[in-house]
Amino acid sequence: MKKTIRDVELNNKTVLIRVDFNVPMKDGVITNDNRIVQALPTIQYALDHNAKVVLFSHLGRVKEEADKAKNSLAPVAKRLEELIHKPVTFIHATRGKELEEAVKNMKPQDIVMFENTRWEDVDGKKESKNDPDLGKYWASLGDVFVNDAFGTAHRAHASNAGIAANMKDVVAGFLMEKEIKFIGEAVDNPQRPFVAILGGAKVSDKISVIENLLNKADKILICGAMAYTFYKAKGWEVGTSKCENDYVEFAKSLLEKAQGKIVLPCDVVCVKVSDEDAQNDFFGAIAKAEAHTYPSNAIPSDQMGLDCGEATIALFKKELEGAKTVVWNGPAGVFEVEKFAKGTKAICQAISELKDATTIIGGGDSASAAISMGYEDKFTHISTGGGASLEYLEGKELPGVAIINDKCCCCGK
Ligand code: 3PG
Repeated sequence: MKKTIRDVELNNKTVLIRVDFNVPMKDGVITNDNRIVQALPTIQYALDHNAKVVLFSHLGRVKEEADKAKNSLAPVAKRLEELIHKPVTFIHATRGKELEEAVKNMKPQDIVMFENTRWEDVDGKKESKNDPDLGKYWASLGDVFVNDAFGTAHRAHASNAGIAANMKDVVAGFLMEKEIKFIGEAVDNPQRPFVAILGGAKVSDKISVIENLLNKADKILICGAMAYTFYKAKGWEVGTSKCENDYVEFAKSLLEKAQGKIVLPCDVVCVKVSDEDAQNDFFGAIAKAEAHTYPSNAIPSDQMGLDCGEATIALFKKELEGAKTVVWNGPAGVFEVEKFAKGTKAICQAISELKDATTIIGGGDSASAAISMGYEDKFTHISTGGGASLEYLEGKELPGVAIINDKCCCCGK
């Protein structure tokens, strides 16, 4: 068991909280503030316990000086002020006198937030390569380190691993605690039947997840473009659908190993698009094209599969009946285009109708899809991590979790 923010003294302490405020933005405007909202309980708890709160996060990728301005956390600090109803002193730097003075002058219940930790990447990738001096410097600003950035837990960067190496008290925030609890318990100690639904474009992205879950889940429902590689493994034609030919043999071995545990979609919604149209404007081209549904083993050679059909929806519903644990990662179709969003929406609906089940979305596109389709409150847990939750589902130990102090195995403190 990991120590949490409940296990440390916060009164009058300077508490460094690593959050994942890597939120989607368009032209400097936040398009989804979920990650900020999810960090609020930890920040509020620290404030309520009279801490001085120093917040920091990465945002996007910063390779050169010109990337810094477009990856500034200033709009995030503004949004946080609105959500937490308190002033947030934003320091437009990642180090230096202004930051140090601002932290030194803090009073309990003040909030200081500093700039994108990846600004440090311009000069020798100091953040991403976990430069020891940088971690030490950031650690010197506070008394306690709270890691609440689950979304970044698969990275060993200066702003998590580097700081932790230089601090005694390293604990989890509430979001981190929740992510570890739900995803960890679902995979390692699931209530059965345990059904995993894995979608998305590529088998190659999900190899380790499928392998890990094959040993743990009772059923794995495969959907999304990933299914076409499995169809090829069964010797079926996939038309012009996305297919990873290099992974057909691997898919074949998985099907043999699975002994019926893997369930594939039985029908496919397809369109005919020319290569040229698809290359010029893929979404425009598929939105315009006429859609037809075919059995999975009879996709015509000029058709491209983009979603699962009604028969698959019924099949998946049946497979989900009575499930007590469901973990879902990866959409069932090209949900960005309304007419190919039915499969993904049907999965949301089927999961939301389950009784007494723990239902988890493992981040990424399926989480965005479920939230945008109005299912935000219908799951037990929607992970804020994309890559992090995928690696967790693979059974890997995440560096950002490993750095958190363990509770004593004898006294539980
Ligand atoms: C994410 O959005 O998955 C995390 O914030 C990690 O971001 P990264 O892939 O840029 O490290």
